Formats: sequence, structure tokens, C-alpha cells
Amino acid sequence: MTCKILTIVGARPQFVKAAPVGHAIKKMDGLQEVLVHTGQHYDTAMSEVFFEELGIAAPAYNLGVGGGGHGEMTGRMLMALEPLMAEEKPDAVLVYGDTNSTLAGALTAAKIHIPVFHVEAGLRSFRMTMPEEINRRMTDHVANLLFCPTKRAVNNLKREGIEKGVLFVGDVMYDSALLAAKTDAGSDIVERLDLQTTAYEVATVHRAENTDNPQALTEVLSFLKERALNMPVVLPLHPRTRNAAAKHGQTFDGLMVIDPLGYLEMAHLIRGSAGVLTDSGGLQKEAYFHRVPCITLRDETEWVETIDNGWNRLWKSPKNYEEKRDISEYGTGNSADKIVKAMIGFLNDVA
Ligand code: UD1
Repeated sequence: MTCKILTIVGARPQFVKAAPVGHAIKKMDGLQEVLVHTGQHYDTAMSEVFFEELGIAAPAYNLGVGGGGHGEMTGRMLMALEPLMAEEKPDAVLVYGDTNSTLAGALTAAKIHIPVFHVEAGLRSFRMTMPEEINRRMTDHVANLLFCPTKRAVNNLKREGIEKGVLFVGDVMYDSALLAAKTDAGSDIVERLDLQTTAYEVATVHRAENTDNPQALTEVLSFLKERALNMPVVLPLHPRTRNAAAKHGQTFDGLMVIDPLGYLEMAHLIRGSAGVLTDSGGLQKEAYFHRVPCITLRDETEWVETIDNGWNRLWKSPKNYEEKRDISEYGTGNSADKIVKAMIGFLNDVA
């Protein structure tokens, strides 16, 4: 008997996480994956390039739901996903991370009694004003299998009374990073930016709390501009930040602004850099995976172990530790296999 998994992705970081799991599903007998792209990210540089680079098959469906407010976007996804799930009749729905696409996929499935599997469960910033914190909490509370990347995530869930279906599997982003380290060698991004003879830092900014309020945006851009007095700071610019800066009349003077990069070029750029400055969750870990120090442009992080082990610090806290220790809990690059085996186990049990 073949079980059907309906995978919902929509935003850049989800393509990175879904790739290794999709590859692991393909290797496994008895599982079929149907991929749905919500359309949350729709620019080529934010979406298509990831499918090409990471070898992800074209989605079976693209809902074309990008832009708009959070409620509108999530609502339109719910409206499109319900008939799609009724038609496809999957045995389970698989969602990743904490975006509006994650919540929409999980909520639609739960309401029509389809099991929900959540990869990257249990992360918490404890800041309920972050849209991502709302999305991830809601998703965890309707999920049947919760794949935790860290032990802290397991404990976070325990504190909320969630223990059933919780599995510590390590971080699928590490699976992807190992793959990137093997395949990004051909990139000439450093030469194209003429950075081969100088130290440089790589920055990204896109979080609503840094972009939507003009004062916060000024503060974060000033921080980057000050860093750029020491060495070049490359800023692959997210459309949200580009739009916010234009709206509030902010400039990027002194920063090396470039278009968003694909996964492999970004990995290559980071590997050659002196440091990463970011408000992204994924990049904090990718910096560590490539053994580059990171400064997180936020007042808290879900990835506390990167701080505890000396690779990361919050922008307003003191300098990184001198001693940097490896983080074993992200696993050995086989998280996707663990996830797929657990999904098969669950589906066999309910069959
Ligand atoms: C989303 C996720 C965030 C994740 C980030 C990765 C939510 C709540 N947030 O934030 O967790 O870290 O993706 O990038 O789901 N836009 C474009 N072209 C695109 C994509 C977006 O122009 O390809 C514009 C949208 O129209 C919108 C803005 O950028 O105006 C923000 O996009 P949105 O998907 O709402 O959130 P992100 O900031 O990307």
C-alpha cells in the first residue's frame, strides 16, 4: 500500500527544509509525495531558483497566494487548500517551520481530520507579537507528529503539555547545508562582487519587527552601516525590506546591496565571509554550519544553542565568546531519513 503525503511549502526557508525530506521520501517504498506551493514567495530569486538548485520537482499545485495582509493571505490559502485536500485525500499533511503557509496547511488539514506532521516543531521566541510565533504555536497544537530540531524544542512542547508524537530528530537544515558544502564550489559570487581580496560580512534583514516600523528599520540599518565602516557588508535585499525602505525614505548608503541570492550562492558567500549579521532564523544556523560567527539582529532567538556555544550573539549583548564549541544536537545530516521513517511508522500504525 502506498501512503500519500501532501507537502505544503510557500516561503524561501521551507524549500530548503523540504528538499532533503523530499529526497528521502523518494528513496522509500510505500510513500508518495504531492507538493503544494502556496505562492507566498513568487519572485524567481525567492522561489524558483531554490527548486532548481535543490533538485525539488515542480510542485503539483501552485495556489498563487502571495502578498496581502496576514489574515488575507492565510485566509486565501485556507480557501484554496480545503478543496484541494478533499480532492487529493492525502494520508497526512506535512508542513515546515512557522510561516503563514505552515499555519494554513496545518489548520486546513486538522479541521478535516487529516494527520498533520510538523517539521521544526517546538521552537519558541516567547514573543507573541511575532507572526511566526503565532504560526508555530498554533501548528504545534494541531500536529500529530512533531519533529523537533533541538532538545530545547522538546522541552518547550512539554511545558505546553505536548508530549505525544514529539520526536527529537536534529535539524534538516543541516542535511541541506552539508549538501551545499559539497556542491557550491562552482559559484563565482565572491569574484562577481569583487570581494576576493578583502574580508567582508553578509547581512540579511526581513523580519516584520525590523522592517514595518520606521524607527526599527533606521536602527537596524544604522547598525549595518556602522559595521560597514570596518569592512564591506553585502546585503542581499529581501523584497519586504526594499519596499519598507522605499516607503519610509530610508537609504542603504555604505552597504553593498544586491538582489536575493539562491541557496548555493548564499552558502558560498557565507563560507568565504568574516561574519553573518541577520534577523533570519535559518541563517543563524547556516552561519554555524559553515563555521562563521553570527550577530542576530533581534532581541531574542529560538536557536539559543548557537549562543550558548559561542557562535552567535544578540546584537545588543556583549561580544561572542572566544571559545566556540560544536553543537552536536543538530545531528549528523540524516534528520530527513529519521523524519521519513517516523512518518511511515505513524501511517502504518493508523492503517
Ligand atoms: C516570510 C515568513 C518568515 C520567513 C520569510 C523568509 C510569515 C509570517 N513570514 O516573511 O517567517 O522568515 O518569509 O523570507 O510567513 N514579496 C515579494 N516577492 C516575493 C515574496 C514576497 O515581492 O517573492 C513581498 C510580498 O508581496 C510582501 C512582502 O514581500 O509584500 C513580504 O512577504 P511575506 O511572504 O508576507 O513575508 P516575508 O517577509 O517574506
